[in-house]
Amino acid sequence: MSAPRKPLVVGNWKMNKTIAQTRAFAEDLRARALPFADVDAVICPPFTALCEARDVLADLPVGLGAQNMSWADGGPYTGEISPLMLVELGVDWVVIGHSERRALFGELDERVNEKVVAALRHGITPIVAVGETGQEHVAGLATARVREQVTLAFAGIAPADVARCVVAYEPIWAIGTGNADSPPEANALMSEIRGAVAGLEHVRLLYGGSMSPGNVADFLAQPDIDGGLVGGASLDPASFAALLEGARRGALA
Ligand code: PGA
Repeated sequence: MSAPRKPLVVGNWKMNKTIAQTRAFAEDLRARALPFADVDAVICPPFTALCEARDVLADLPVGLGAQNMSWADGGPYTGEISPLMLVELGVDWVVIGHSERRALFGELDERVNEKVVAALRHGITPIVAVGETGQEHVAGLATARVREQVTLAFAGIAPADVARCVVAYEPIWAIGTGNADSPPEANALMSEIRGAVAGLEHVRLLYGGSMSPGNVADFLAQPDIDGGLVGGASLDPASFAALLEGARRGALA
């Protein structure tokens, strides 16, 4: 038996919260009793609020993540943020290949791969997001599509480095809809992910897509689900705290 994987809950704030709102969230979170011994917590504010989040949460074990980054260290890339800049800010995690970046900003699997390589080079843990569209889901193509995304994301990366990553399975039809996948169905697909690339048997696999305080424990109770990548339900500190507590309970079940 390998060592149990510690649950991980990542709040993906997307394009939400100003600096002032980030301060309010962090100050509220600080005042709560959170199950940090049993659950790892990460928040991913917008780039503009990373400093504020870092400073207010400095003495708490809440990881700081970015929602995206460039594959390049610097140069003529207007509007981009480099891994060097994130490291300087104290960022330890980065979401790569979120479906919104793939669908709205033209991010291709090859770019996702380059970003994973860049993050690993700089010691930032990539949270690689994959997931099928509603059409692919209905057509029975979810497993094939997700296996393809995972294979391309980790192409050319040594198994020992793959093992340093996190993968988030986010069925696109479940994101922001209130219509989460069923935990056993998600688990079945995620066990396919675990077998798709050497090294993934060791990583933490997160479910994402309308995860909430009400369903988080059911997801974490599944053998191949180690946490969540959470959008809407991570924006309120009480809800984020409830997610952490639910993850703790679910992992014990
Ligand atoms: P949601 O978003 O929790 O609001 O569905 C998840 C995500 O897009 O990461």
